[in-house]
Amino acid sequence: MTEQKATNVHWHHGEVTREQRAERCGHRGATLWFTGLSGSGKSTVAVALEGALFQLGVQAYRLDGDNVRMGINRNLGFSAEDRAENIRRIGEVAKLFVDSGQIALSSFVSPYRADRDKVRALHDESGMDFIEIFVDCPLSTAEERDPKGLYKKARAGEIKNFTGIDDPYEAPEKPEIHLHTDEQSLEDEVATILDALRARGILNK
Ligand code: ADX
Repeated sequence: MTEQKATNVHWHHGEVTREQRAERCGHRGATLWFTGLSGSGKSTVAVALEGALFQLGVQAYRLDGDNVRMGINRNLGFSAEDRAENIRRIGEVAKLFVDSGQIALSSFVSPYRADRDKVRALHDESGMDFIEIFVDCPLSTAEERDPKGLYKKARAGEIKNFTGIDDPYEAPEKPEIHLHTDEQSLEDEVATILDALRARGILNK
């Protein structure tokens, strides 16, 4: 757990409750945490799901690895420590979205189980839904897709610590949702997630 540096700080409660926000939105907030190899399809599924949720009138917003690393986390690289801090910050940001009544779609490689489990624990402590979505496909498929040409560079030794090549990926043991992007269609993946959100009572539309 990251040390609390500032002393004499106190949580200031507002007057609007989470329940009131959920009532107004017609759904409660939740974090959908997409994890998987680079090129597994996390961002593709998150973009399609965000579109489907928008059509249903659901407040949802994507937090995406590459985008976030160009802004709030621009000072972080890919060491295990920096990846942990990347995930910690995004976990906290996702919680703010959930508290505001929105559905946060977080797509990060998030290769370490312990880092993801910490974010899950933070949500649990606050009574917030955390749905882990394992965006699974064989490394060989991700490498064939190589949408950003990064596997090629990693194989050539031009990128160090690349997940799946010379850095580990620890698959979730009990994800709430397990997608196989080499076998399922995008529509099927989106429908699977929407069904799971309805089954959990997060959505009622
Ligand atoms: S995480 O490990 O800290 O969760 P994150 O999802 O933010 O990673 O960023 C991963 C993205 O950064 C990949 O999709 C890829 O485009 C790019 N990237 C650049 N270098 C690496 C690397 N060494 N390992 C993994 N991804 C990398």
